[in-house]
Amino acid sequence: MSPFTPRVKAKILVDGGDPEETVRVKRLVGYVDGQTTNPTLVSKNPEVRAQVSSGKRFSSREELEEYKKIVQSISPLVGDAGVSIEVFADFDTTAEQLIAQGREMFSWIPNAYIKYPCTHEGLRAAQMSVHEDMRVNMTLCFSQEQAAAVYSATKGSKTPVYVSPFVGRLDDRGENGMDLVQNIKQMYEAGDGHVHVLAASIRHLKHLLGAFAAKAELVTAPAKVWEEWAASSFPLPGADFANRGTDKADKPLKAIPYKSIDLNQRWESFDIQHELTAKGIQQFVADYKSTLKQSA
Ligand code: E4P
Repeated sequence: MSPFTPRVKAKILVDGGDPEETVRVKRLVGYVDGQTTNPTLVSKNPEVRAQVSSGKRFSSREELEEYKKIVQSISPLVGDAGVSIEVFADFDTTAEQLIAQGREMFSWIPNAYIKYPCTHEGLRAAQMSVHEDMRVNMTLCFSQEQAAAVYSATKGSKTPVYVSPFVGRLDDRGENGMDLVQNIKQMYEAGDGHVHVLAASIRHLKHLLGAFAAKAELVTAPAKVWEEWAASSFPLPGADFANRGTDKADKPLKAIPYKSIDLNQRWESFDIQHELTAKGIQQFVADYKSTLKQSA
């Protein structure tokens, strides 16, 4: 470990689909607790890209084998926050289809977390998964209601469940994504602690410090952000650090107000619709399909 690296309280994860990046961050920071992957990141893996640019197109099975190879190389590089592997989810994929993929992916490595989207079927799959002692990471989270539904659907899980609020994508549409992280953390204070907040869609150093200051249990960021952190001598938010609600260029972002939500409701009773969740699914499907044979 670099003699200057602080062991931050939050678990640190690399957001990417290339084991080389994980190795690089580990060398720079001294350790990596975990990794998050998704269909977009896998389609950008250098080996996958090289094959696609030389004309190769994968069958669904071959694509899955590529994904497996990638997570199997990453798995031994990371600590106990594991490797998050995302299922293929279209709008009409049922919970049964999601969990069938989840079961297979969970067997790939000893430290897998299965990523399901914060949709009705994703939540149903998560509920069934935790009953089978499968670790889950609920992704594409853009609202407090979705995080409340995650809490309620996975109650009783023996291992921590992750929920991933996407900070950068909210910022992209002018809302202060870090407010969502803070709001979920505040809402969970009334809970039993079984859901851990994984700040995701982290785009720059200010996000990273914001996530540390918000006391997210985990933070995932692309290698370039960890490199930026290392190059700036691993800054940490001071006691006076403020989530000022500005983007990287200091443009003000709209605050996301806190909502008072009772966590002790059935997950089905929460309004979990969010435009960005739907958009995120569309994007992941398109990226997943971009490497497939037309007929696959
Ligand atoms: C991680 O789990 C997420 O998939 C990732 O952070 C999304 O980041 P993006 O919004 O930059 O694509």
